[in-house]
Amino acid sequence: MIVGVDVGGSFTKAVALEGSSIIGLCTVLTTEPVAAVSGALGKLLSQIGKPLRDVEFLAVSGAGARFLGDCVLDIPVVAVDEIEAIGIGGLTLSGKDRALVASLGTGTALVVAHRNGSIQHVGGTGVGGGTIRGLAQLILRRQSFEVLEELASKGNLRKVDLTVGDIAGRPVGIIPAEATASNFGNLSEDADEKDLAAGIFNLVGEVIGVVVSLAAKAYGLERDVVLVGRLAGSRLVSERINEVCKLFKVSAIIPENYDYCVAIGAAEYIRCKTTPKT
Ligand SMILES: Nc1ncnc2c1ncn2[C@@H]1O[C@H](COP(=O)(O)OP(=O)(O)OP(=O)(O)O)[C@@H](O)[C@H]1O
Ligand SMILES: [Mg+2]
Repeated sequence: MIVGVDVGGSFTKAVALEGSSIIGLCTVLTTEPVAAVSGALGKLLSQIGKPLRDVEFLAVSGAGARFLGDCVLDIPVVAVDEIEAIGIGGLTLSGKDRALVASLGTGTALVVAHRNGSIQHVGGTGVGGGTIRGLAQLILRRQSFEVLEELASKGNLRKVDLTVGDIAGRPVGIIPAEATASNFGNLSEDADEKDLAAGIFNLVGEVIGVVVSLAAKAYGLERDVVLVGRLAGSRLVSERINEVCKLFKVSAIIPENYDYCVAIGAAEYIRCKTTPKT
């Protein structure tokens, strides 16, 4: 069995692979990296009822992977570059031969991956899940993602954002009148916490949507965008990304186990390297 672990900026995700089959998944908060990896491994093994000695390798990736040594709990650790892991994970989860894989985590990373092995980091944006957390803490003094999303889903964006119609009085080019001209550009004095939460989610979803769409067009991958990372599971953020993508004639999918993309990519990378070719 190979265990892939993604030590992300916010959460540590672990996956157990037997052959190419996923037999277990778990997520813990990223605390100290060794503690997070040991904790995730222990939780995963107790969920699937397997002993530690069944684990051949820990394939580790994500920002915190560099703080791990050669072994954790006597299991050999093999580090996998996060960009490789995002690319391999995105292709594995989507079944595609080529894709623009957008990793929506604390920040946002864009990777162009081809099944022939070419994997390229094409950019990204610092606007991501961490932006929602930070702005919500500053503006609303709230931290729970679920509570924030619930508030945001009831907010009125007209009290926060300026639309193209507000400025131009009509659509401009490919942009409809109701599209955003300026995030937070029309902040009303009586905007309440629901409206402000809506503005924050909208800002993050729209920025990611535009960056993803322009990259998809630049690389000819308009039909092959794959969204992964925990933030892709936010209904509000993914809906907004999809709406922006539609304007640019780009379509994006969110595969099953999207939040385990890096962990699965790291485990797959090591599995392919250690499995003898027949
Ligand atoms: N229940 C949830 N549903 C959707 N998104 C969530 C949820 N809880 C937290 N998030 C968002 O997901 C973000 C973390 O995503 P993820 O775990 O993929 O990132 P990471 O791997 O820790 O970070 P990075 O890849 O940038 O190093 C948080 O910043 C938060 O905004
Ligand atoms: Mg991540």
